[in-house]
Amino acid sequence: MPDYLKRAVEAPREAVWLALKAGEAPRIVSVGGEKPTEAAAFALPPIYPEWLGDRAFLAAHGARFPYVVGEMARGIATPRMVIEAVRAGCLGFYGSAGLPLDEIRRGIGEIRSALSADQIAWGANLIHSPQEPGQEAAVVDLFLKEGVRRVSASAFMRLTPDVVRYTALGLERGADGSITRRNHVFAKVSRAEVAEPFMSPAPEKMLRDLVAAGKISEAQAELASKVSVAADITAESDSGGHTDNRPATVLYTSLSAARARAAARHGLDENAIRIGLAGGLATPASVAAAFQLGAAYVLTGSVNQCTVESGLSEAGRKLLAKAGPADVAMAPAADMFEQGVEVQVLKRGTLFAMRGKKFQGFYRSGASYETMADTDRKWVDDVLGEPFEAAWSATRGYIQKVNPAEAARAEKDGNKRLALVARRYLFQGAQWAREGDPKRTADYQIWCGPAMGAFNEWAAGTPLEPAEARTVRQIALNLLEGAARFTRAGQLRASGIPVPAQLFAFAPRIFN
Ligand SMILES: Cc1cc2nc3c(=O)[nH]c(=O)nc-3n(C[C@H](O)[C@H](O)[C@H](O)COP(=O)(O)O)c2cc1C
Repeated sequence: MPDYLKRAVEAPREAVWLALKAGEAPRIVSVGGEKPTEAAAFALPPIYPEWLGDRAFLAAHGARFPYVVGEMARGIATPRMVIEAVRAGCLGFYGSAGLPLDEIRRGIGEIRSALSADQIAWGANLIHSPQEPGQEAAVVDLFLKEGVRRVSASAFMRLTPDVVRYTALGLERGADGSITRRNHVFAKVSRAEVAEPFMSPAPEKMLRDLVAAGKISEAQAELASKVSVAADITAESDSGGHTDNRPATVLYTSLSAARARAAARHGLDENAIRIGLAGGLATPASVAAAFQLGAAYVLTGSVNQCTVESGLSEAGRKLLAKAGPADVAMAPAADMFEQGVEVQVLKRGTLFAMRGKKFQGFYRSGASYETMADTDRKWVDDVLGEPFEAAWSATRGYIQKVNPAEAARAEKDGNKRLALVARRYLFQGAQWAREGDPKRTADYQIWCGPAMGAFNEWAAGTPLEPAEARTVRQIALNLLEGAARFTRAGQLRASGIPVPAQLFAFAPRIFN
């Protein structure tokens, strides 16, 4: 392989000088430095990781890199993870979903006190919670009070007044007449029909109702009718946790078309709606590909769960570090077990997915514990680690507090009792994994996508192989630097230079 070709890929920040003669293939003359004397020489410009995404994203959010460390529920994306993401030049979202308000407040306080006033590239998660009326409004109130300026809104199937309120309250008319945002909504979506309302201005009726309720002003409603609800749309393809398992390429293209439609319908500037990509991003190749698709930013999830900043136990992180790309499975979701909703979890080293599915099978067949075959009853008791009756008694106490109507139904319905006990088991699986309970390894519920295995394969035999070396900063910088090199290799290839496969590679290293 020619030495200069290797140098051209390994130094993406240098211009590459090519010579082009009529009838001949282009050839590299030099890497970096001044223009060579050859008359027909032209330059491939430098490539910086900072430039791979949308520069307006960096300006809007005060980030150096178009890279987001995604929210992970119940504090798995810890305040510390967010702080380290911001310090590395990325944007970080706190995993506030599923946490009590007091804990969210504490987490926000920890982030704010560790960062300076100009380190603004952080936010928290607003998760749609239809089963908990009032929760969304309370979380939005808290975010507004605590000055959380960036919110990743996820699991929404349609717009809700609280999301619109958050956006509208941050809208202002600048001196030049343009509309500026102080509150930024990132809408995390995996379907075009869910994305379009976020890419459009809030519905007139919702704005009117918010004004009538005194929640936003007339002026804010007027501004909100002229801009999209969200300026950042995160396309969530096949990922850890809740996922529609969409391929990234298909989803990104579909959302781009949705953006064009929404912008045309409402007379908006398409450039004011950025689409970032999430799901399966864990190697330089995948990150470079996301930017080539046109992604304004990339967002990683699974790979950050195995870092030292993660809220997952050391035992859980060690399991993640051993996963291959196929070591994941869909398993029933604890909160929507009866509806058949599933989440993507780690399969290797735990029996959670298999056990969860078996519970799901019993429930779907209409079974009750009381009418099951003895062997099945034994299986249930063994998995629960206690007699079903004891598990039901603990479950009943909880459900009577949070949902008395459901508890009353379960008293009369054995199939419902089985579902509620299964839900408690599934929920505990996540808790055991977070706490690292050594007696419950087989029941660990760890949300994880194929990205984790792809990362492990890439990191094998490198300084990022040991679990203790994995930090959000090292992972982000390696992915971004690698993506810049892949982009350079592609740039050379598209210029007519033959580029060997070995140059589409980048081994992880430790950055200072
Ligand atoms: C453990 C874990 C917990 C997650 N929790 C949430 C959450 O609470 N809210 C949310 O919007 N996304 C959540 N996600 C999704 C991530 O924010 C991110 O979008 C996704 O992981 C990206 O795909 P990847 O897993 O392939 O990297 C979670 C992902 C993981 C792995």
